[in-house]
Amino acid sequence: MVTLTEIKQPIQSHLENFEKKFRQSMKSNVPLLDIITRYIIKRKGKQMRPMFVFLSADINGDIKESTYVAASLIELLHTATLVHDDVVDDSNERRGFFSINALWKNKVAVLVGDYLLSKGLLLALDKNEFELLKIVSEATREMSEGELLQIEKARKLDISEDIYFEIIRKKTASLIASCCAAGAASVGSDKEVTEKMRLFGEKVGIAFQIKDDLFDYDNSNKTGKPNGIDIKEQKMTLPLIYLLNNSNWTDKRKIINVVKNHNNNPEKVTKVIHQVNESGGIEYAREKMKSYHSEALQILSEFPDSPSKTAMKQLVDFTIERKK
Ligand code: IPE
Ligand code: IPE
Ligand code: MG
Ligand code: MG
Repeated sequence: MVTLTEIKQPIQSHLENFEKKFRQSMKSNVPLLDIITRYIIKRKGKQMRPMFVFLSADINGDIKESTYVAASLIELLHTATLVHDDVVDDSNERRGFFSINALWKNKVAVLVGDYLLSKGLLLALDKNEFELLKIVSEATREMSEGELLQIEKARKLDISEDIYFEIIRKKTASLIASCCAAGAASVGSDKEVTEKMRLFGEKVGIAFQIKDDLFDYDNSNKTGKPNGIDIKEQKMTLPLIYLLNNSNWTDKRKIINVVKNHNNNPEKVTKVIHQVNESGGIEYAREKMKSYHSEALQILSEFPDSPSKTAMKQLVDFTIERKK
């Protein structure tokens, strides 16, 4: 598998400049915020979203100031949603370290997330980037809708495969789609090209979240996030939905009973995980992931060849092959 370091090559200098600007964009005079933002910067993630922005821009034109604004805004927003997500999911680990809520409690994490989001919006306003602001604000709205739809389904436990795809398209794919659309728009692409890049990003984003959901069933993952918390949170993802759709009425009721009433019982949860594995649910989810992966590559193939297009292909491969 090609590593992220290799994929970054065509946009290396841009990513280095981006990191400086990103660090700057979080600064605050409030001491507690400053301590927390420094903690966040030290434990940075893979930064795949800035890579999607810069590669999408470079495939379609010349990277400029607007491209940097897009990358910073999106990474700020992404960071904000992760800080909130760990509150929502009651998760104590992120990126291999304690989450913000684990160290500073929920109330601080909620406010830090709001701070990061507003810093992102202000950055775009400050630079008069209205088109960018529109692309990203729509993604933000969809992310909130996706998360809330997920909560509703976790309460009712009546999720279908279609709803699963709607949830992940909204909560995850919309932001990756906005990376690709904003990257293209930042170098002056027309509506049609921008829309094509958005659709490309959406396909990648769906594959990305299926992979993320598979990590939860894989105790050898290196994500730095706890595994097995989806069932604990009553979150039914594709492998489990497959098991339910392929179980008889009695088994289905037993499984749902564990998810609903015994999700804190490690033995019962392990048994469900085992049943998922036996049912072929993991392979099924993997096949779906691969089909979104190839749909994405199909769209990408319509763009002119360049080193950044090659790197983008590798980034799409990385999305489904990654170990973290
Ligand atoms: C995690 O995204 C959130 C999801 C949409 C699953 P990443 O795995 O890209 O997070 P970091 O930024 O690398 O930690
Ligand atoms: C992804 O949701 C985060 C957002 C889209 C806000 P998850 O809850 O599945 O992500 P991880 O696995 O904790 O990163
Ligand atoms: Mg979540
Ligand atoms: Mg989570």
